[in-house]
Amino acid sequence: MAGKNVDPTMDLVEEIKRLRKEKNAVILAHYYQAPEIQDIADFVGDSLDLSRKAAETDAEVIVFCGVRFMAEVAKILSPEKTVVLPDLDAGCSLEDSCPPDEFKEFVEAHPDHMVLSYINCSAAVKALTDIIVTSSNAEHIVSQIPEDQKIIFAPDRHLGGYLSRKLNRDMLLWQGTCIVHELFSEKELIKLKAKHPEAPVAAHPECPDNIIQHADHAGSTSSILKFALESEADTLIIATEPGIIHQMEKAAPHKTFIGAPGADGNCSCNTCPYMALNTMQKLYLCLRDLGPEIDLDEDTRVAAEKPLRRMLEMSPTSGPAKDVSAISE
Ligand code: 13P
Ligand code: SF4
Repeated sequence: MAGKNVDPTMDLVEEIKRLRKEKNAVILAHYYQAPEIQDIADFVGDSLDLSRKAAETDAEVIVFCGVRFMAEVAKILSPEKTVVLPDLDAGCSLEDSCPPDEFKEFVEAHPDHMVLSYINCSAAVKALTDIIVTSSNAEHIVSQIPEDQKIIFAPDRHLGGYLSRKLNRDMLLWQGTCIVHELFSEKELIKLKAKHPEAPVAAHPECPDNIIQHADHAGSTSSILKFALESEADTLIIATEPGIIHQMEKAAPHKTFIGAPGADGNCSCNTCPYMALNTMQKLYLCLRDLGPEIDLDEDTRVAAEKPLRRMLEMSPTSGPAKDVSAISE
């Protein structure tokens, strides 16, 4: 196999476009990816949008620019396709906080509970789950479950707590967290709001409650984007990973989007270190070599597919991921 050194004079954008065509590949990217990766992707979206795209695509190869659990979802839903991820180490703290063996014991200790898992978990945890949810469909899905049905919600205790409060529904919460959304500082956010009293705050429900309480809108990345673009305000405060601000600035260059601050008063600490592992060089190499590839044990894949298909059936119908194919050729 060719080496991993990339000629620094190579035009990566042109090479990636050429290889994408040659290999009949589609590039899917999450909003937390670096701007140049979002710009070259065929589709940019939130976890639900990207799952739908992965299930529907005709391409032979799915290049997933996001984190490993997202690429696994693509493989679970499209097992006949080659699914590659620029960096296989792109994990997620929520996935790490829920080891499958411990989760299995927990589920077995509560046999009368229905198991709902946030999509940010391993394929093995999905295989132990009744229904998967994302931040954009969780409210809709939980509302369809009879009120007397007991629920386990894993692995994100903040999203679980948010749903529990919003829907007035008791849920047994696994105590996982997202290391990125936990870093926002309420004290600094209050100071920032005082400086920009007209600026609405949009927050992801992976944030702790003390941040959500200051939000005018809470929801998935795509809903935050929609809120920011539809808002009449010229300045908005965004409490999620700052990668999403790229799409906001492209769509509304006249507005100002301020990332919510961490404890040191700025937001640079809120970049997701896992998402940041993917680079244009690694994207090029992964298209060239068709690896690293996602490979799942078939029993686990089949067991994980059921709760994912249930999620797709129970989700509200909504528009597709942002289709940028027209500009990426
Ligand atoms: P959504 O894009 O589905 O809102 O999820 C955010 C996230 O945590 C991605 O890791
Ligand atoms: Fe995981 Fe948080 Fe990074 Fe999303 S932002 S991939 S939840 S660590």
